[in-house]
Amino acid sequence: MKRNILIVVIVLLIVSLGLAFFFFKHGDMTEVSINDKFKEIGYSKKEVSVILDNVLKKDYDIILELGYDESLTDILTTDGYDAKNFEKYIEYYMKNKDANISDIVTIMNSGFYLASYPASNLLASLTLEKYYINDYVARYLDYGNSHDMNAKDIISIVNSKADLEFYSESYDSNLDVNNLVLVNKFYHLKEDYTPSDLVSLSGQYNRGANNKMRKEAADALMKMIDVARLENIILYNMSAFRSYDYQVNLYNRYIKRDGKEAADKYSARPGYSEHQTGLCADLNEISDKFDGTDEANWLRDNAYKYGFILRFPKGKEHITGYKYEPWHFRYVGLEAAKIIYEDNITLEEYYAYYIEKNSD
Ligand code: DAL
Ligand code: ZN
Repeated sequence: MKRNILIVVIVLLIVSLGLAFFFFKHGDMTEVSINDKFKEIGYSKKEVSVILDNVLKKDYDIILELGYDESLTDILTTDGYDAKNFEKYIEYYMKNKDANISDIVTIMNSGFYLASYPASNLLASLTLEKYYINDYVARYLDYGNSHDMNAKDIISIVNSKADLEFYSESYDSNLDVNNLVLVNKFYHLKEDYTPSDLVSLSGQYNRGANNKMRKEAADALMKMIDVARLENIILYNMSAFRSYDYQVNLYNRYIKRDGKEAADKYSARPGYSEHQTGLCADLNEISDKFDGTDEANWLRDNAYKYGFILRFPKGKEHITGYKYEPWHFRYVGLEAAKIIYEDNITLEEYYAYYIEKNSD
């Protein structure tokens, strides 16, 4: 009995060893033959080993069809190379043989929808930017090809629509996004729009005639003013909610005084002022003299902690369409304010990326 078991075990052992040997040999033979095929079309031993290490088996045929190409191993060893995009790299490379290999890889990593655009360092740099939006690629390239500017700045401008002439297109502001509503030289509020939850700022919080603000924004403003006071920074509202009709008078007065072109640089046209949202306030001193004061500096550095942003910053005039206004603070809520502050972007850029892009 014991002997029979031993015989069965030995037979099983021999059979499995035989099978193992067969499969090992067979596998090895496949490797050997693909090696030979790659060598036959001109790849060196070293190149073949780079290919075997970096290309998925299912893509071997692509290489065999392609024949020898001295750039193939450059593609395979470029930073960012991802084997699952191999076919895309090759297809794009074939159309852009003179382009930089690293740009080819970067662009295809962003998506095959870019295959119809010529490979360029500008296109690659654009796709690597945080605020890059697929849908705007043609406009980025148009703008970038006619302006000597880095990818980040091109994206800021195009996302904000500032590659277009101000007021050349006009859309209804989307009020559904509540605190994030965008009102600027492209987005306007209707004549009869008045927020339904306006409350009055009074006492230490106000020194202006336009003292109304939406409830959540007013609460946040009062909280900010309270904290600032503890640090001996005295802040107060000068002008918050302004109706459409009020803005009509204001804007017309400015035109009379300075002319339309100059007025447009510091005053919004009726319907295009975010003062009509009830979400912003001009604080302390509506004058260039406010810049550099302790109060202006405190606001610049701390307002985001209360959900406010400096709406028309210095250096962003070409994006917002307005002169720097160190006094004008806009409530957007804590989350958006933090991103806008930390990334040093405008509401325009925030809106394009975090609101508009996701609503498609
Ligand atoms: N001063 C700002 C731009 C306004 O008029 O709304
Ligand atoms: Zn203002």
